[in-house]
Amino acid sequence: MTNVENQAPASMWRMSVAPMMDWTDKHCRYLHRLLSRHTLLYTEMVTTGALLHGDVPRHLRFEAEEHPVALQLGGSEPSDLAQAARLGAQWGYDEINLNCGCPSERVQRGAFGACLMNEAPLVADCVKAMVDVVDVPVTVKHRIGIDKDESYEFVRDFVGTVADAGCRVFIVHARNAWLKGLSPKENREIPPLRYEIVARLKQDFPELTIAINGGIKADATVQDLLQQVDGVMVGREAYHNPWWLASWDALYYGDASVEHTRESIEEQMVAYMEREARTHGTHWYSIARHMLGLRNGLAGARRWRQVWSNHQLKQLPPSEVMRLARTKPAEAALAA
Ligand SMILES: Cc1cc2nc3c(=O)[nH]c(=O)nc-3n(C[C@H](O)[C@H](O)[C@H](O)COP(=O)(O)O)c2cc1C
Repeated sequence: MTNVENQAPASMWRMSVAPMMDWTDKHCRYLHRLLSRHTLLYTEMVTTGALLHGDVPRHLRFEAEEHPVALQLGGSEPSDLAQAARLGAQWGYDEINLNCGCPSERVQRGAFGACLMNEAPLVADCVKAMVDVVDVPVTVKHRIGIDKDESYEFVRDFVGTVADAGCRVFIVHARNAWLKGLSPKENREIPPLRYEIVARLKQDFPELTIAINGGIKADATVQDLLQQVDGVMVGREAYHNPWWLASWDALYYGDASVEHTRESIEEQMVAYMEREARTHGTHWYSIARHMLGLRNGLAGARRWRQVWSNHQLKQLPPSEVMRLARTKPAEAALAA
């Protein structure tokens, strides 16, 4: 496979929801896809070990409606990554992404994630091994540096080396990863955001697709960043405030064809919960946990969230939970 065959339009990365372990599972992505037709969605990171020695359908199953969806892999062994990437492509993922940004100690012990930024030639080998066996784009998500080294040259050389191996798309979390002394959560908050480094990468590599990530919470920031780079990836804000996604098709893809309401989204999620229960035995509770922020900022949001997260209602069918969630507290007290 050549680089040219491995290309896709840069617009594919204009808006995306970040890979987030334990959060962006297939149920979460189903919700996000109802809210936005065009936004690119990422899986949680799946390690090559889990995929090559584990339950493949459990890790890779997704709904046809989820496209476009990218599989994020964690690993550092080129032949394992090639095998895992091939599986991902066979299962129909639209992109294979390599995690070079996760700073967790567990991931470091496995010698992948952010510590791979110190080993650009190895990442290049990994990318090449994957590019050779799949015809969907192989992309890399990384940080702007490691520990306290804030030199631009470090990330520039990393991108240059990996690009030479056939990676055309880089998703850059605009902070360093401090490999010692910070938890993963702190590593998403404490190292300072430096968007200008990512903008500089785009200037130096105009032929590459560069998407920016980290701390983006508002349309004004998205619009400003889209003047400088090709795409914006949103993580926590998309998860906690999923309704934001409902405006993205119109704002960022010029597609105003569908107007959602929170009620219609909730109803479609209930239909999905019923289908998942029938076909896979999934409990509605493990789906509903991803939509608890849907009504954030509206009157009644607290009660709605409490009902959908109430363990004691687990035996009820989701349609009944929806009815309760929509009932005003006074009416609920009368009915009790
Ligand atoms: C709960 C959680 C899990 C995450 N898991 C991953 C992961 O599996 N792979 C990855 O590349 N980044 C992971 N991240 C980092 C996000 O993809 C993203 O880079 C980071 O949250 C910064 O973006 P934000 O400020 O928009 O949230 C995770 C973040 C969170 C909050």
